[in-house]
Amino acid sequence: MNENTKHQTPNTRKASSAKHQPRNDAADGTLVFGIWCFFGVWCLGLGVSAASGLKTRTQHVLDLLRLYESRNVTFIEPDGSWPMVWDRARDAHVWDAEGKKYLDLTAAFGVAAAGHANPRVVKAGQRQMNKLLHAMGDVHPHALKAELARELSRITFERWTVAADVRRRNPGRKGSVRLLTSAATGKTIFCNSGFEAVEAALKTATLASGKRGVIAFEGAYHGLGYGALNATHREHFRGPFRSQLGQFAHFVPFPEAGQASRLTQKTSDDPLKEIQEDRRDACPTRERVEDCIQRLFRREQIGAILVEAIQVRGGINIPPPALLPLLRRLC
Ligand SMILES: Cc1ncc(COP(=O)(O)O)c(C=O)c1O
Repeated sequence: MNENTKHQTPNTRKASSAKHQPRNDAADGTLVFGIWCFFGVWCLGLGVSAASGLKTRTQHVLDLLRLYESRNVTFIEPDGSWPMVWDRARDAHVWDAEGKKYLDLTAAFGVAAAGHANPRVVKAGQRQMNKLLHAMGDVHPHALKAELARELSRITFERWTVAADVRRRNPGRKGSVRLLTSAATGKTIFCNSGFEAVEAALKTATLASGKRGVIAFEGAYHGLGYGALNATHREHFRGPFRSQLGQFAHFVPFPEAGQASRLTQKTSDDPLKEIQEDRRDACPTRERVEDCIQRLFRREQIGAILVEAIQVRGGINIPPPALLPLLRRLC
């Protein structure tokens, strides 16, 4: 029994077979009508498949997203000219769904910093997936998790602190890790996304300082979770959810390298007031940013400053080199 007949009752099966064995005029008419219907449907089918044959793979994918992905996730130009649909990637190159090759200057948000489809990364991933894909997160640890946390500490926190001295004084000593106290090592929280990492940092700062306030920068993007969103400056992300937010962030202007000289003189004694007046044409100097932060320190309970080393979604804003050392000093 084929797909078309298996749901038919014996009577309908009989009727349909009768259609193909005409015995009188009426049956002939039915036959002609049936053939025309069949021909019409067949032509329609051909027309649809011809039309869909004209569709590029890119258009097909974008159409699926328009139909099935929640709004406000992938930005799609109405004429389909953006985004390009990625099909595959290798080293520094990406191919789109039409087979066109591009040079990837983004390293895919840095995820492909070691190159797209780097064979060593792929092999390591395959080997691990074959061995142990999941260890229930915070329940059952595995060796690689502990070793990765140690490496992250070594290349960051320990380079800047007393731990570096311990290692320098005990080069190559196997048990030197035992010489490190817990206070001398950096600690890691493994997260699934950028906003989660930001929120982990915000929580850590609150626990350490006992203060709820956070200083963030105009133009900042820190993600869209309900914690990180407080410190994301863009109104169209934050506005619709404002009533549900803790609103603990205070924004100060982000100084840009090479543009500070545009501001020749202060127009107000209160830099915060100037910012509230939205003088966006005047790029703030590092000194004014420091003024703003010092004032907030006096007025609010500030437990953290959250900053992007380079603002990206805010428009590729590069701060003067002195900004990060200044923030470190203020903290
Ligand atoms: C600086 C910065 N912080 C946080 C995020 C949020 O990351 P995610 O989208 O993975 O939550 C982004 C994402 O673009 C980002 O650029």
